[in-house]
Amino acid sequence: MEQKTIIQFKDVSKQYDNETLVLDNVSFEIEQGKFYTLLGPSGCGKTTILRLIAGFTEASSGEILFNGKKINNLPPNKRLVNTVFQDYALFPHLNVFENVAFGLRIRKVKEKAIKEKVKQALTFVNLAGYENREISEMSGGQRQRVAIARAIVNEPQVILLDEPLSALDLKLRTAMQYELRELQRRLGITFIFVTHDQEEALAMSDEIFVLNKGKIQQSGTPNDIYDEPINRFVADFIGESNIVKGTMIRDFLVSFAGKEFECVDQGLNPNEPVEVVIRPEDMEITTPERGKIHVTVSSQLFRGVHYELMCVDENSNEWLVHSTKKAAVGTEIGLHFGSEDIHVMRIGETEEEFDRRLESYGEGDASAE
Ligand SMILES: Nc1ncnc2c1ncn2[C@@H]1O[C@H](COP(=O)(O)OP(=O)(O)O)[C@@H](O)[C@H]1O
Ligand SMILES: [Mg+2]
Repeated sequence: MEQKTIIQFKDVSKQYDNETLVLDNVSFEIEQGKFYTLLGPSGCGKTTILRLIAGFTEASSGEILFNGKKINNLPPNKRLVNTVFQDYALFPHLNVFENVAFGLRIRKVKEKAIKEKVKQALTFVNLAGYENREISEMSGGQRQRVAIARAIVNEPQVILLDEPLSALDLKLRTAMQYELRELQRRLGITFIFVTHDQEEALAMSDEIFVLNKGKIQQSGTPNDIYDEPINRFVADFIGESNIVKGTMIRDFLVSFAGKEFECVDQGLNPNEPVEVVIRPEDMEITTPERGKIHVTVSSQLFRGVHYELMCVDENSNEWLVHSTKKAAVGTEIGLHFGSEDIHVMRIGETEEEFDRRLESYGEGDASAE
């Protein structure tokens, strides 16, 4: 089934004060009905992207399209989006019903329709029967649901959620992650969710945009981004990683930690300096003779499902290993991994350049057959 593009950013830049570029030539497409996450550290521009979509601020340059039409100058109330803010921004002096009804009243919807729509929205978020409660009588999770009901009651095409779970404690946050994801599936509308929490992003999203310093570093499914980080920032930000310096000897052969290893990467220059990523769970511990890298265990922590071992090789590189086997501190062990567990990253490569390189060796495979 072909997906319909609902929002498009074309080379959008944003400066608030004519000084720093908060967003630097950002381009992306949002498709209908999917759950998107903007993921990145504080200050990277996530909220600014949501504000541009909602119309609360203007782009300094570039185009923003909604259903194919340029909306750069369209006022917020004409846009088919609703925002759920970080602090929910509920009206404390209004009860649950009136909070949810607020947008409908502004649009002068008839009283009977308001009753029906509010009831439906509250039922959707499992708050039927709470109509007359005061906001102060609602728990954190319930307030969250009121905020969502207030957004969905307006039947927007897109809901923007700015770190809506960050105020909740861990247990409630996990429960709300399931709830939100389930709600998005049932509603079938597009969610654009903002978080700085990588686990949250991996668990919830169809697509993730990883942002840093006003640029999209990488976009893709959680699996794409976890398995194939394209640069040090993404590898470091998403999940735990071992990142060491290396040299690409030639296609399919890389050296690091003082040795040469077969790998699956290609399209780099001979003897190009690179960074190499191996995930802690992709390394197995074995005897020194059998291991590809020879290390000494420097610390061990039991994490319930696995042991977390910190090891040091002969070149003083540190290796974090997740293993179901334990190994005592001070012992010499071997680390084993497959050639496909080695991810070679070209230093400073952008997502575009990475994609082009991938495409170019796709063609190479075809001609070899
Ligand atoms: N209204 C504003 N005026 C000036 N600078 C702003 C304004 N809003 C945000 N910024 C700056 O823009 C950058 C990105 O902010 P923001 O989009 O809120 O980041 P995030 O949501 O990822 O934490 C930050 O450096 C922030 O200080
Ligand atoms: Mg923010």
